[in-house]
Amino acid sequence: DYLKIFSPATVANVSCGFDSLGFAVDAVGDEMTFTKTAEKGVRILQITGAELTYNVDENAASAVVKKMLNEANANFGVALTIHKGFSPGSGLGSSAASAAGAAFGANQLLGAMYSKLELTKFAMFGEQVACGTAIADNVAAAIYGGFVLVRSYQPLDIIKLPVPKKLRVVAIHPQIQIKTKDARAVLPTKIPLKNAVIQWANLGGLVSGLYTENYQLISNSLVDVVAEPARKRLIPFFDAVQNAARKAGALGAGISGSGPTIFALCKGDKIAEVVHKSIEESYSNKGIDFEMFISKVN
Ligand code: HSE
Repeated sequence: DYLKIFSPATVANVSCGFDSLGFAVDAVGDEMTFTKTAEKGVRILQITGAELTYNVDENAASAVVKKMLNEANANFGVALTIHKGFSPGSGLGSSAASAAGAAFGANQLLGAMYSKLELTKFAMFGEQVACGTAIADNVAAAIYGGFVLVRSYQPLDIIKLPVPKKLRVVAIHPQIQIKTKDARAVLPTKIPLKNAVIQWANLGGLVSGLYTENYQLISNSLVDVVAEPARKRLIPFFDAVQNAARKAGALGAGISGSGPTIFALCKGDKIAEVVHKSIEESYSNKGIDFEMFISKVN
């Protein structure tokens, strides 16, 4: 009747898959505990690592647990603790980690009655609560693990994609906050057909590269002509980081979700180390604090 879980940070979009691709990392995430209580309802006992609301209906995690207990007609309540391992507004799916972790944890206490697809829907409700839009790419990646494709929103259809064994991610999180809402406000509402062609061709290329472990194809496909051109100006020194990553041997680099975190995919630990160093150097002495990590995609 007590559960402790790790809920991962996630990288959404992955350059060519705006709102439809995402992957989970295993180096960074939140820790959450769930305790069954005789008293019905949801309580947040403690939140550490970030300042988030304790209001049960406004907090992404508790809102999800509450909805699940209500819908399942549970005869018990849940007391929650949340330890944020990374900051909200980072572009690493902070609210998604809370929402997905909450869905997973509540489901365990409910006897695992829901499928992963149903858990994704509950977690999307948490995203709705936290940022006003029920986007699935981060939460699906957190719930399914590895790489996922949100093939359709209506009806929701999530495809789990394979992860090439040597794939590593290097991420730099400049210590500025970008709200998903603001980063969505700068997006174009229409795109030229020729850009749509570039985007969906690369998405197909990336998916094919994941299945065939073709790192060159993955590299060629890490292109974004939809969101990146509009969003990169919100991220200081984005071009410098992207160039440094490619020059150091990364397969590609782009904006993680709605930013400001920038991710670079690499083949193998050694190249990841070199890319880490090179990105670090490109961002040093720029007057902006930053954090970095290297992770497997898991
Ligand atoms: N796909 C989303 C976006 C990720 O880029 O706005 C953030 O939830």
